[in-house]
Amino acid sequence: MSTASVMESLDGECQSLELLKAQALGWNHIFSFINSMSLKCAVELGIADIIHAHGKPISLLELATKLSIPPIRNDDLRRLMRLLVFSGFFARKRDGNSQDHDDEELYIPTTASALLVKEKDANISSSLLLMLDQMFLNPWHHLSSWFKQDKVSAATPFEAAPERGIVEATSQSPGFNSFFNEGMASDARFVAKLVVEECAEVFRGLRSLVDVGGGTGAMARAIAEAYPQVKCTVLELPYVVASSEASETVQLVAGDMFQYVPPADAVLLKWVLHDWSDEECVKILKRCKEAVPSKEEGGKVIIIEMVVDFDIGRPELVETQLLFDMHMMVHTAGKQRNEGEWKNIFTDAGFTNYKIIPALGLRSVMEVYH
Ligand SMILES: C[S@@+](CC[C@H](N)C(=O)[O-])C[C@H]1O[C@@H](n2cnc3c(N)ncnc32)[C@H](O)[C@@H]1O
Repeated sequence: MSTASVMESLDGECQSLELLKAQALGWNHIFSFINSMSLKCAVELGIADIIHAHGKPISLLELATKLSIPPIRNDDLRRLMRLLVFSGFFARKRDGNSQDHDDEELYIPTTASALLVKEKDANISSSLLLMLDQMFLNPWHHLSSWFKQDKVSAATPFEAAPERGIVEATSQSPGFNSFFNEGMASDARFVAKLVVEECAEVFRGLRSLVDVGGGTGAMARAIAEAYPQVKCTVLELPYVVASSEASETVQLVAGDMFQYVPPADAVLLKWVLHDWSDEECVKILKRCKEAVPSKEEGGKVIIIEMVVDFDIGRPELVETQLLFDMHMMVHTAGKQRNEGEWKNIFTDAGFTNYKIIPALGLRSVMEVYH
């Protein structure tokens, strides 16, 4: 074979390899939803609840029995578990005594499976069930047609879908409202635990705090419990306050953050600004600025949100932030922002200084001052 034809065939081989890699990437993306849906199935079945409660490695047959899964489905359960083990949600332990290949599957929990246990305060199961509810999934089918519409007809694909916007959905359906609030509260409990443990500095010296858009008060209750000297208040929409349980430690105030924020040493905005456009964020932040004293007098706005950062050196973290940004685009008028975008909003709202504490993995705690 001539040198030219060897080069040509090597070229062809490289092209085929590239093509096959591209095809694998394509199929991986076609099937990405199967990761979400398999995890949803595991949460609905209560697999993590059983494995954690068992207290020792559990066999496939024991798991199937505890889940009341009929023997005819045992092999299907094994296949579901194989994917979840591969993804890192559970781990497998070999049973050295067993001769039977199928029976030697023993499952053990992982840090990720602990987050699926429903009775734990810090779990992601409620968020998962919320995000993967039909109501939240339908708008994705309207995304491409929404791109071609002008903003007036529908600000988000969620509004373009028959279900309409989140506020309409939650305000008009008490069932969906409590489902939504529990999804938010489970995240608030998760974050609160970390924030009060890892970011004590943020709360030092505060005597009062208003959690603006604080849902049913899970975050504010955790702060009030950890720092009894901080008088905590939640400002929320009237229908959310009406569906919240009264608390001895947290005052619930019905209102509109675009109109008025009650005065306090600190205002907390967790997962609120990502729902809104830059202009709306500036309006909310101006109300917050009016509510808190200057930095010299100990005032601050505390924001818990993502700060998108491509240079963070953790591709899986960046990918999750980008996925979250698409989630905001489809369901809200908001977005996930990088530091520059946050800085512009803070400046436009009249703040002079800010600090980013990257203490929460995907999210950061930001302190903003005037
Ligand atoms: C994404 S949720 C976040 C809830 C809570 N901060 C958390 O992280 O768990 C946004 C919250 O903002 C509240 N909200 C929306 N518009 C509001 C307004 N105009 N005034 C006060 N709260 C509002 C919603 O009711 C909802 O509870």
